[in-house]
Amino acid sequence: MQVIEVPDAVIEEPTDVVVEITSTGLCGSDLHLYDPLTPFMTSGDIVGHEPMGVVREVGSAVETLQVGDRVVVPFNISCGSCWMCDRGLFSQCETTQNRDTGTGASLFGYSKLYGQVPGGQAELLRVPFGDTLPIKVPHGPVDDRFLFLSDVLPTAWQAVEYADVEPGGTLLVIGAGPIGDMAARIALHRGLDVIAVDSVRERLARVHGRGAETIDHTEVDGIGDRVRELTDGRGADGVIDAVGMEAHGSPVAETAQKALALLPKKVQEKIMLTAGTDRLAALMSAIDSVRRGGTISISGVYGAPTDPLPMFQLFDKQVQIRMGQANVRRWSDDILALLQQEDDVLGVESFATHHLPLEDAPEAYRKFRDKEDGMVKVVFTP
Ligand SMILES: NC(=O)c1ccc[n+]([C@@H]2O[C@H](COP(=O)([O-])OP(=O)(O)OC[C@H]3O[C@@H](n4cnc5c(N)ncnc54)[C@H](O)[C@@H]3O)[C@@H](O)[C@H]2O)c1
Ligand SMILES: [Zn+2]
Ligand SMILES: [Zn+2]
Repeated sequence: MQVIEVPDAVIEEPTDVVVEITSTGLCGSDLHLYDPLTPFMTSGDIVGHEPMGVVREVGSAVETLQVGDRVVVPFNISCGSCWMCDRGLFSQCETTQNRDTGTGASLFGYSKLYGQVPGGQAELLRVPFGDTLPIKVPHGPVDDRFLFLSDVLPTAWQAVEYADVEPGGTLLVIGAGPIGDMAARIALHRGLDVIAVDSVRERLARVHGRGAETIDHTEVDGIGDRVRELTDGRGADGVIDAVGMEAHGSPVAETAQKALALLPKKVQEKIMLTAGTDRLAALMSAIDSVRRGGTISISGVYGAPTDPLPMFQLFDKQVQIRMGQANVRRWSDDILALLQQEDDVLGVESFATHHLPLEDAPEAYRKFRDKEDGMVKVVFTP
């Protein structure tokens, strides 16, 4: 990762806008590109997909935005008018789907796997579909009030929706990074009982402070047993996996991913697309901890096509599994209404632990991966 000068973003299509970025987040998904998805990166790729700012230029066909409007940019690029978008499946948009790589809607800053679109950890960003994609927000409140509409909030919101826990039920959230933390906040706001799992003490302390029960998974023999103790022996009604393919701490996956890193890039790409190299510890804990007939909601990103699943256990327990990239525009209006309430009900204004100049990005990536300095959520100011 390095910070360099590149040519300014410009209008390419009449429906584009160019946004001057005022704040831009660092996401757990950026870490996958850093390691282990590095083979898919091309030198010169601009990363980042959690930006907001002020419209600086509008294309000739854009009708609803003007120069000076304040907007948050969703991480997935959706046209807003195709068959998928009409059904709220914005992350599967058929206009920006990547048929050559067999992946869904293009994403800002997410390598050639997702359309190789220049991303938002930058001073300027070209945003297509100017009339439907950017989320217009009012001037006034600080950026952090709205910034997380780009990814963290809709991802966490969808995770809670998909977990489908009835009022009074128990939601287990595995992983207390930004996504798990925000999912816990949303579920608590809805009155659910929340149990959060992680091993990073300051992350657990944050969710505990909001009212969740916590489990340090390095201190218990099995997450499932502890969850059953807390739920009359039954298990959690819904479980969110907010971890995904992170390899750090899983000896087998880590060794496989490190061995892979020694191979030529083309070979690495091929193996990653055809073999199983994910760590599945969090998902296995989810399968063990969910009650019979309960739902697992996966928001952590997985990448390998041949990861083995315990089909008998899933079938016998009658588990439902729902997953996918967040359909940002499906939820953003509902969330914006909540954010515009006077009191900061989800605590978004104190959610970021670090505000840093963009120049510090390379070091911040490393520290965020290694969980140093109490770093949970980083916001860069270009
Ligand atoms: N579905 C989407 O649209 C979407 C959007 C954004 C992020 N994500 C994904 O969500 C995941 C979380 O993102 P984040 O920004 O919170 O990242 P993060 O890397 O900061 O958080 C992951 C957390 O999981 C914890 N963890 C690791 N292994 C664990 C285990 N076995 N049990 C319990 N906890 C464990 C880590 O300590 C860390 O705190 C990532 O996989 C990211 O790619 C998905
Ligand atoms: Zn993200
Ligand atoms: Zn579409």
